[in-house]
Amino acid sequence: MPDPRVAAVGTSPLGRTELTGRDLFSAAVAEAFADGPDPAEVVDAVYVGNQSESYEHQIMYGTLLAEWCGLRHVPAERVEGCAAAGALALRHAVEDVRSGRRDAVLACGVEKMTAGGTAGATNALSAAFDRALEQRTGVTAPSQYALLAQRYLHDTDATERDLARIAVKNHANGAANPRAQFQRETDVETVLDSDYVAPPLKLFDCAPVTDGAAVALVASEEVAAKFGTDGPAVRVAGVGAGANNIGVADRDLTFVEGAHEAAKTAYDEAGVAPADIDVAEVHDAFTSCEAMLAEAAGFAPPGRGYESALPPAERSDGWTDTHLSTSGGLKARGHPIGATGIAQAVEVYEQLTGTATPERQVDDATTGLLINEGGVADAVTVAHVLTT
Ligand code: COA
Repeated sequence: MPDPRVAAVGTSPLGRTELTGRDLFSAAVAEAFADGPDPAEVVDAVYVGNQSESYEHQIMYGTLLAEWCGLRHVPAERVEGCAAAGALALRHAVEDVRSGRRDAVLACGVEKMTAGGTAGATNALSAAFDRALEQRTGVTAPSQYALLAQRYLHDTDATERDLARIAVKNHANGAANPRAQFQRETDVETVLDSDYVAPPLKLFDCAPVTDGAAVALVASEEVAAKFGTDGPAVRVAGVGAGANNIGVADRDLTFVEGAHEAAKTAYDEAGVAPADIDVAEVHDAFTSCEAMLAEAAGFAPPGRGYESALPPAERSDGWTDTHLSTSGGLKARGHPIGATGIAQAVEVYEQLTGTATPERQVDDATTGLLINEGGVADAVTVAHVLTT
């Protein structure tokens, strides 16, 4: 079976921009192919993760973006799965290369979220909830996640201060990441003093509304060699996917089972255990998500994921030494919904190739995990294990 590599990665600027979706995509492609061949010489297929057509009144993103980067007549399609769309696109690319059917597939994500302001984004995101049972009650993404967070604070020793520490850690990481939307540090008091969006979640517990695109070229070893990276090649060693109920009414509110299943499958395929993971980009759409995902991915013992912001030596017994959300996570790097899963891959690629900025580079990182969720928490989840 061919052994897929991540041959090249790129992102657009992330944040509030004047760029359209296709221009965001162009910026990401330009970075990825800056030192490689022309995309038309190598790319066999394109998958584009994209959450909502409501931002730019645009579907057919696969064909549009393939044409936009000079790829004519290659199979191209949009992949939908709310915030997991990017990792779904990545998984399709990996499976195509593994099967031997294709040698190089461009996995992309793009979202132009600011086009309709915060209200437009809130409305677009609510389409991810069950229309018959939950949308009609007026729920929003923060209010849905707040239900999970309230339960987490009720069931564990975690406090709002613990969640604030996660925001502080991720802002500090974002401050060291030139790609991040928020390249500024914050402190616990600022987080705790910020306005409630949906209690217990405050402004600084939330990921922002973000414009952005990201791309990752998944390729055979032979094609990857054309990109001539000086560092070690990055392998896609394991992939896993899982799902949970779409509604929050009928599920465990704090154990994200779909995410657990996705991570476990990816570990099994890669032949690794949670303790082998040096860096993990977890889907911290809200600070409480990082705590729950640390547990679901096996980094933290049950009920202790909220310690993710503590230095490894100060965490409870049973924690691994894994560094979480070194990019700044969704919280500070930004959360351009359909592009987030690929942006996670970009961070792990940089960590494993030793090309992250020195302030956030984890020494000798050889193994990384990305977990990307869509819908409320893990309604659809995809995990990838990357290794050198
Ligand atoms: N964290 C920290 N600061 C934030 C922020 C965030 N998430 N979102 C906005 N800000 C800052 C802005 O930088 C701006 O600061 P400035 O005045 O110094 O320039 C200020 O807050 C106001 O920004 P604005 O965009 O007007 O905020 P808003 O009140 O319209 O929206 C949220 C804030 C939290 C409601 C919005 O970002 C949101 O809905 N986030 C969640 C997105 C989501 O649900 N994603 C999907 C998850 S599955």
